[in-house]
Amino acid sequence: MRSNGMTMANGSVDMVVEAALQKQEKDRRLLRIWLRVVLFTLFCLVLVGGATRLTESGLSITEWKPIHGAIPPLSVAEWEEEFQLYKRIPQYQEINKGMSLDEFKTIFWWEWAHRLLARTIGLVFALPLAFFWLTGRVEKRLRWPLVGLLALGGFQGFVGWWMVSSGLVNRTDVSQYRLATHLTIACLIFAGCMWILRGLSHHSPDAADERTGRGFAALLTVLCLFQIYLGALVAGLNAGLSYNTWPLMDGSLVPGDLFLQQPEDGAIRPSPGCLHTVCRHAVAYGVDGPRLARHATCPPSRAVPRARLHSGGARHHHAFDACGYSCRARPSGHGAVRAWLCGRPLARFHR
Ligand code: HEM
Repeated sequence: MRSNGMTMANGSVDMVVEAALQKQEKDRRLLRIWLRVVLFTLFCLVLVGGATRLTESGLSITEWKPIHGAIPPLSVAEWEEEFQLYKRIPQYQEINKGMSLDEFKTIFWWEWAHRLLARTIGLVFALPLAFFWLTGRVEKRLRWPLVGLLALGGFQGFVGWWMVSSGLVNRTDVSQYRLATHLTIACLIFAGCMWILRGLSHHSPDAADERTGRGFAALLTVLCLFQIYLGALVAGLNAGLSYNTWPLMDGSLVPGDLFLQQPEDGAIRPSPGCLHTVCRHAVAYGVDGPRLARHATCPPSRAVPRARLHSGGARHHHAFDACGYSCRARPSGHGAVRAWLCGRPLARFHR
């Protein structure tokens, strides 16, 4: 009798556990679908952010209106008003003077689309999160990571404006440090979302060794983020055009002129060439060692004199050899992509 009773009790415990597991799996499936939608929207946002940068559209909206800014100018008078605001900033006065209203509209739409997508992603993330939370679908262990991701998204919006504000006075573009922060946070948001999604997915039974696997993955992630940060600094200063030979730059592994005294305030700051050097060395020895080894067997380069790269006509020429490192000048994708995105001839960018 007693053993019969125990068997029945065990049976009902099994059923409760089974039901709980089924519910958990159902909830997780829903969360996975949601996070995939978030990731897809983020991916689009990153593409539009990149296009905003390549078309040099980032400073076209000179005000920070998180809610009202979702509505673009709707009448000719409103367009004129927006254009007048842009005409006040150094980028218009020093670089784009004479730009027509139609040209302004092109750069405006890129920046507006970027900000609108950023707002959309806030909603796509926050509303379902609130729903899943209130209906008890968010496991306890996921609460802090999801709230953290939401907070990071909000912070990214603030960083976006902080970056824009750096280009509205005294400069014709945004600060490279703020740009690099913006890009690195975008990567963190993307990686964080992917990490939570993967944690909700089924895993193979033969998982990698927890200790070594985790440490190595964490190290690689930090190195990649650091490299992305450096890459954005290089991009923000157009520093990628400093040296067109590799691994020697100006005949040396560590070229001169790494630090320059700023004429405005006398401060000593890293030169574009310094950032270029650090970025290349970091990728070679830190993240990308094996490719450097392959470079040793690369055919000799046809180096282009550095002076030519600094002349206006070659500004948007990058150099890649067979193994992906800079050896010879070749028309780059960047200039062409910019021209395509803006629908304007390449010459416009060869200032
Ligand atoms: C979650 C939200 C956001 C994400 C993931 C994101 C991501 C990005 C990415 C990946 C880029 C390209 C960076 C590069 O090529 O180095 C970019 C550029 C840019 N973003 Fe965002 N962004 C977000 C929100 C915002 C917001 C709210 C603003 C404005 C208030 C903003 C302003 C800009 C501007 C102005 C650029 C172009 C920078 C330039 O002129 O060089 N972003 N964004």
